[in-house]
Amino acid sequence: MQANRSQEHVSLYIEPWGLETSQPKGLNIMLALNKEGIYFKNACGGDGSCGRCKIEISEEGNQEYQEILSCKSSLSKDVRIKFPPEMILDL
Ligand code: FES
Repeated sequence: MQANRSQEHVSLYIEPWGLETSQPKGLNIMLALNKEGIYFKNACGGDGSCGRCKIEISEEGNQEYQEILSCKSSLSKDVRIKFPPEMILDL
């Protein structure tokens, strides 16, 4: 499959690693984290039933974080993400 080079990208800053990356706008946030090698422990795989993919997110222009299910959310703006340390899966 060939990448769409004209696709718009957004920036992600991911704590606690201080990881900065760029991913396609509209990409599911769980998939975006997976692409960076970040996986959730005991997650249901994205059907929204387990609640274990919960992260805190702050979109560009907003100082406050809100909790979301990453499997049910997609990237629309530059974001800062707090990944809960207790959910880090060591591979
Ligand atoms: S992976 Fe289970 S609710 Fe998101």
